[in-house]
Amino acid sequence: MYEWPCCYPYLGGKMLNIEKIKNGIVIDHIKSGHGIRIFNWLGLDKSSCTVAFVVNASSRNMGRKDIIKIANTITINFDILSLIDPNITVNVIADEEVSEKIKLKLPEIVENVILCKNPRCITSTEKYTSHIFYLENAEERTYRCDYCDEIRFAGDFN
Ligand code: CTP
Ligand code: ZN
Repeated sequence: MYEWPCCYPYLGGKMLNIEKIKNGIVIDHIKSGHGIRIFNWLGLDKSSCTVAFVVNASSRNMGRKDIIKIANTITINFDILSLIDPNITVNVIADEEVSEKIKLKLPEIVENVILCKNPRCITSTEKYTSHIFYLENAEERTYRCDYCDEIRFAGDFN
């Protein structure tokens, strides 16, 4: 029996091509496997936009990457994307051209995204207190809880 490899980038000898979009946003260079987190975080499963989600696209620099193309102008919290994957590029597409290429950087402060796990922290005992984290070390991608100094990694949301 012939087994079709799941990562095979060709369909019947043709490259799998996803159409260019006219207006919208292309989230590119997503580390392969991280795309689903970004897709879910942006709530794209509930969105009425036309969305193309490519997993394991071949990439010259990255080997494999995920790509999300959203064919609508939507507002995105870029800070949160950089917590999930700092190397992604957000391309803004206007009239079929890339009008802007946004490189992400870690936000200095995040509220109610990274949650403090320390059971003695006020955020654990007082349920309505906001979880506020400050960037501790950008290279190590660590954040420090404003109340109890607990350290968490950028991508650890829960
Ligand atoms: N793209 C698209 N629709 C357009 C224009 C671009 O979907 N009308 C997509 C391209 O397919 C690519 C991304 O947006 O995935 C970035 O486009 P471009 O800057 O032209 O590609 P590269 O030069 O490969 O980008 P980079 O240098 O950032 O790797
Ligand atoms: Zn805390």
